Amino acid sequence: MSERYELTRPVFLIGFMGAGKTSVARRVARDAGIASVDLDTYLERREGRRIKDIFAEDGEEGFRAIETDVLEELAAKDDPLLVSCGGGIVTQARNCAILAERGLVVHLRVDADEAASRISDMSSRPLFQDIEAARRRCAERLPQYEAVADLTIDTAGKSIAVTAGKVFHALKERGVLCQRPE
Ligand code: S3P
Repeated sequence: MSERYELTRPVFLIGFMGAGKTSVARRVARDAGIASVDLDTYLERREGRRIKDIFAEDGEEGFRAIETDVLEELAAKDDPLLVSCGGGIVTQARNCAILAERGLVVHLRVDADEAASRISDMSSRPLFQDIEAARRRCAERLPQYEAVADLTIDTAGKSIAVTAGKVFHALKERGVLCQRPE
């Protein structure tokens, strides 16, 4: 049987839309036999609404308030989780404090053009509608991601499997991903 691991504290994957956070988290979780949660998917299920509808009905401000609440909830779970966060998580100071205090934060770096080529369904991303605006938003956020990240992995030209392997090794190296006792 393959080796089984456990997290010693929560791990948060952050980065711009299209960085591959959700897919990388799933892959690491599968390879390590740990649990991962996609914050946006959890939020949609909890609220019973799609993100694009929350934006349309409550605006970005409404969405951000729910996002912070969900982050608090996931960060406080007894069994630490691998959490893939929405790209805008770093725009709220409260979120950055939660990320930094509670877990290890991994920034998956991508530029807006590569991100656009990876995103198949733009309609589900209300803040990625136009490439010029996405380039600006991505540049604005880069220092915010870097400020809260414990480590950054550049995803340019890398497959999900390669990036996931790098995350896996980084977590092991830092003692956040440990082999479970038999
Ligand atoms: C957002 C990113 C999205 C989602 C929402 C807002 C952002 O998540 O949370 O549309 O502000 O960058 P992904 O990064 O998973 O696309």
